[in-house]
Amino acid sequence: MNRIENKVAIVTGAASGIGRAIAILFAKEGARQVISDVNMEGLAETAALCAAEGGQVKHVHCDVSSTDEVEAMADLCLSSYGTIDILINNPGFNPFAPFIVAQEDEILKALDIGCVGAFRCSKAVLPTMTDKNYGKIVNITSIMSVIAGRGQSSYNASKGALKMLTQGMALDLAPYGINVNAVGPGMIRTGMTRDLFANKEREEWFISKIPMGRLGVPEDIAHAVLFLSTDEAAFVTGTTLFVDGGQIATA
Ligand SMILES: NC(=O)c1ccc[n+]([C@@H]2O[C@H](COP(=O)([O-])OP(=O)(O)OC[C@H]3O[C@@H](n4cnc5c(N)ncnc54)[C@H](O)[C@@H]3O)[C@@H](O)[C@H]2O)c1
Repeated sequence: MNRIENKVAIVTGAASGIGRAIAILFAKEGARQVISDVNMEGLAETAALCAAEGGQVKHVHCDVSSTDEVEAMADLCLSSYGTIDILINNPGFNPFAPFIVAQEDEILKALDIGCVGAFRCSKAVLPTMTDKNYGKIVNITSIMSVIAGRGQSSYNASKGALKMLTQGMALDLAPYGINVNAVGPGMIRTGMTRDLFANKEREEWFISKIPMGRLGVPEDIAHAVLFLSTDEAAFVTGTTLFVDGGQIATA
């Protein structure tokens, strides 16, 4: 309990799935937060769940594709709590299209939400973090940053790019006391994967690829993100912590 007590965190894409689980765990662990998403209904539910855990939380609409909305989110955090210690860059976009029919607008959207969004949000919190020589940034990538999935070339490109953005940022920001890491989920049961696991036979096929013999749950990812957001991980930067039940160990 209270592993990030009094720390101030921003969690993007917090209306559902992994982002929601991170926000709830951060509330339990004592952080004050600004959470954001484009889905305001889901976001309000997450805010209520955080408050039920005793967490201080503000919620705001923020499309990570919009520099104006990203800057307004960082401003809200500063005006509410006076600082920013932790940033979690969570949203991604997977158009699920075989390359033969993949469209340019889909890969641009995947890169914009899944990679440039993390760049924008990180830029918005940077002046605060560099001023105080302290910060933790965690980017949510995927096992798809290092292995390819059929019909997922645009998503693969966005997650591979985010993995390398993480490493590049880590090098440049280490002198400023800022840790930048990634968490790479495997197959996790969320809204994004609902259709993939809708059919029992398909679900069993996916599970057969996972040495631990089960799909992940959003809380599996949240605990890894929490570790990288604490000072327990003070000497960890530029790395990806895969949370995948052993799946890429078999690749
Ligand atoms: N579910 C999995 O198996 C899995 C595996 C690997 C990686 N991931 C990654 O985990 C992250 C979270 O995904 P999830 O599985 O929880 O899916 P999800 O669909 O439950 O949650 C994604 C959230 O991001 C929000 N979002 C979408 N576009 C946005 C934008 N432009 N600006 C702000 N918010 C936006 C959505 O409204 C949603 O609330 C994504 O980056 C995803 O690629 C998921």
